[in-house]
Amino acid sequence: MDLIVARNRIDLVKARGQGSVALVPTMGALHEGHRSLIREARTRADQVVVSIFVNPLQFSPNEDFSRYPRTFDADLEACRDEGVAVVFAPTADDMYPLDRQVSVQSGEMGTIVEGAIRPGHFDGVLTVVLKLFNLVQPDVAIFGQKDAQQLAMIRRMVADLDLPIDIVGAPTVREPDGLALSSRNRYLSADERQIALALSAALRAGAAESVPSKIRAAALSVLDAAAPRLALDYLVLVDPATFSEVYESYRGEAVLAVAAKVGTTRLIDNVVLTLR
Ligand code: PAJ
Repeated sequence: MDLIVARNRIDLVKARGQGSVALVPTMGALHEGHRSLIREARTRADQVVVSIFVNPLQFSPNEDFSRYPRTFDADLEACRDEGVAVVFAPTADDMYPLDRQVSVQSGEMGTIVEGAIRPGHFDGVLTVVLKLFNLVQPDVAIFGQKDAQQLAMIRRMVADLDLPIDIVGAPTVREPDGLALSSRNRYLSADERQIALALSAALRAGAAESVPSKIRAAALSVLDAAAPRLALDYLVLVDPATFSEVYESYRGEAVLAVAAKVGTTRLIDNVVLTLR
């Protein structure tokens, strides 16, 4: 079956098969990270729907919405390659009519860590993800661990609003040298890309330690060594479900998460640790 490009709800209804549906929401500029999500989706349902929509609601005015990479033809090729049944690519006008009023609020958790640096970002993410869920009506949706707080917030929304959808988290895909794949990596010069390696190196240094204070200190010293070319937004060691900082005596899974700017490019990365 050839790939179907759906532009609206009617197209989606027509394209829907008999079996189960897995949704992979994306903003396009697809790379190997997205493709790994698609492959995970294929193991989970009969039909895979990939949405491609650069969501204006999750960018603030000073961010890169207008210059966000748009590579639609290559994205369709990648989806075809990966056996995707339907690409859902709505227009911003269809998604957000001028008279719209109601949206999702991400609550307190949307104001900490990444949400503290990007006010309103998670409201925008949750609003578009809920709309995509309602339009596509998937049985399961796949999200990358790369955006760990986004994944946690989506799980929170699904629990708080009783959405009948399984949320699956998929591991972060990296370059051989450790750099996490990101659509924004293409903004980096060769020189900046070298500096950007400090993010994953810091996470590895942190992961080699076993108590919170030492984990944070080891990661910070790698990041400090890359300053001032790397401008740190945050380094946190948090509970994966709530994104609140863990105490020194904490046991269980924790996320060591980092965000920094290299030149004008903002990068995030994280690693999941088990504290014993
Ligand atoms: P986008 O940045 O395009 O990412 C789409 C999905 O790919 C997300 O679930 C993200 O976590 C995952 N992803 C990105 N880089 C990855 C990597 N290196 N390894 C594994 N997965 C990776 O995240 C968004 O779009 C948007 O916020 C969206 C959820 C689509 C809502 O607009």
